[in-house]
Amino acid sequence: MNKKLRSRDWFGKKDKDGIIYRSWMKNQGMPTDMFDGRPVIGICNTFSELTPCNAHFRDHAEMVKRGVLEAGGFPVEFPIMSLGETLLKPTAMLFRNLASMDAEESIRGNPIDGVVLLTGCDKTTPSTVMGAASVGLPTIVVPGGPMLNGKYKGQDIGSGTHVWKFDEDMKTGKMTQEDCEYAESCMSRSIGHCMTMGTASTMACMVESLGLTLSGASAIPAADSRKKQMAQLSGRRIVEMVKENLTIDKILTREAFENAIKVNAAVGGSSNFIIHITAIAGRIGVELNLEDFDTIGSKIPLLLNLMPSGKYLMEDFYYAGGLPVILNELINHLHKNVITVSGKNHHDNIMGKTDCYNQDVIATYEKPIQQEAGCVVVKGNLALNGAVMKPSAATPALMKHKGRAVVFESIEDYNKRVDDPELDIDENCVMVLKYVGPVGYPGMPEVGNMALPKKILQKGIKDMVRISDGRMSGTAYGTAVLHVSPESAIGGNLALVQNGDMIELDVAQRKLHLDVSDDELAKRRAKWVAPKPAADRGYVNLYIRHVMGADKGADLDFLQGSSGSVVTRDSH
Ligand code: FES
Repeated sequence: MNKKLRSRDWFGKKDKDGIIYRSWMKNQGMPTDMFDGRPVIGICNTFSELTPCNAHFRDHAEMVKRGVLEAGGFPVEFPIMSLGETLLKPTAMLFRNLASMDAEESIRGNPIDGVVLLTGCDKTTPSTVMGAASVGLPTIVVPGGPMLNGKYKGQDIGSGTHVWKFDEDMKTGKMTQEDCEYAESCMSRSIGHCMTMGTASTMACMVESLGLTLSGASAIPAADSRKKQMAQLSGRRIVEMVKENLTIDKILTREAFENAIKVNAAVGGSSNFIIHITAIAGRIGVELNLEDFDTIGSKIPLLLNLMPSGKYLMEDFYYAGGLPVILNELINHLHKNVITVSGKNHHDNIMGKTDCYNQDVIATYEKPIQQEAGCVVVKGNLALNGAVMKPSAATPALMKHKGRAVVFESIEDYNKRVDDPELDIDENCVMVLKYVGPVGYPGMPEVGNMALPKKILQKGIKDMVRISDGRMSGTAYGTAVLHVSPESAIGGNLALVQNGDMIELDVAQRKLHLDVSDDELAKRRAKWVAPKPAADRGYVNLYIRHVMGADKGADLDFLQGSSGSVVTRDSH
């Protein structure tokens, strides 16, 4: 260790400040020699009983502490705002940037030399990584792990994915309320996050492919004892990383982001990947634009047969070999000049871990589940800055489609009218939902996969083209055009669509076109009235004034970049 540890600016002081910094810590029973210059490791815990996916993190924190102590470090656990996808209204995404600020300032303002991020539910991963990236200390992520496979009446069911299915079955009378309540328990039968390739699993694979976890960490089920081993080993490793001064900026290079984009395509990751990794790139100073996802990732085939794109679940992925097998299949397509938290690249990390134990779960690059499965970016007068689609979750026959727009002016309008038998809609129409973007909702909720009208579901139709400036849950499926940018609330052309307009989607041509003349659009724009701001005070007001577009990762403009880890002034 050749660099002075930043924690010495607290615990190494010989004056009044030093007394204050050490003495109050000693009320927790810490002996004097804990302040002798050993690396202080922050354990950033997103535990909350209101975030059920992360409710087991006290155990993980204890395992990390064990590892830190074994390696000669001084572990200190601290909480930050926890974002639970299921309970938090109006959407956890509204608070991702707020939680990132909490993580950033908690890390920078405290005597921490390296940080372990305990992450699980969707937003808890990007928010903590964004915060840590804006500080720049050695950082390691311990993903909390997915739940065990859901089991219902002899069948595997996936969290999230089967919610949409159960909802449809309730609407069409195939399932009773009683059946549904029984199925709820069958779906969430262990600790952990959603066990489909939803956004939480996508984020876990993202941090592993970026190089921020120990190898193989992302797929281990939360209930598997090897998850605790991984937490303990991560505790040991972060102490070494501090000694090696292996800071997060050395790991998060442009090449690491390109690797992660390819891996996300191969695992059929959530479209939310785009928005979160773009925000992380913005913090670390790596240029990443929407087109990069298409040019780098769209040609990569789908290798992982997991819901919602396929049939298996994360537990099966782990037993088949986990992410190291995927990395091995992609080996000739990944950059080698990257470094991960181990100090080595992926190629070295996965040596001896590349056997696939179930090729029905993880296919080979030569015989993939689907060719060209990565997220694509479509553009046109309806989305001048682009919109996002996930082909592996869409219906191939709808990838080229022209249909009549049926417009919902808000989510309330949609909820009120979608099941009205009088609604003028058929399966060839294009469903359009406005004002669900970052500013519009506010917070860009996961409503882009709006359920089809009941009368269409009753015909046995499962999918239609749907367009919005919102997001789609990573557990969901459908031919949904998402993240339309610029969004309707700031005057994007999506705001000008009217019932009966024709809309053309041509994914092969990357085209999204509103068949309305420029003159007519100008007339409509002259009459358009921007919606009233959603809040006139507090965080929400700050958010709507500063949030950037979905194409920029929906971060707050003033949070881009890093402020480093130096704090020059003392508090007394
Ligand atoms: Fe937390 Fe799905 S609700 S991961």
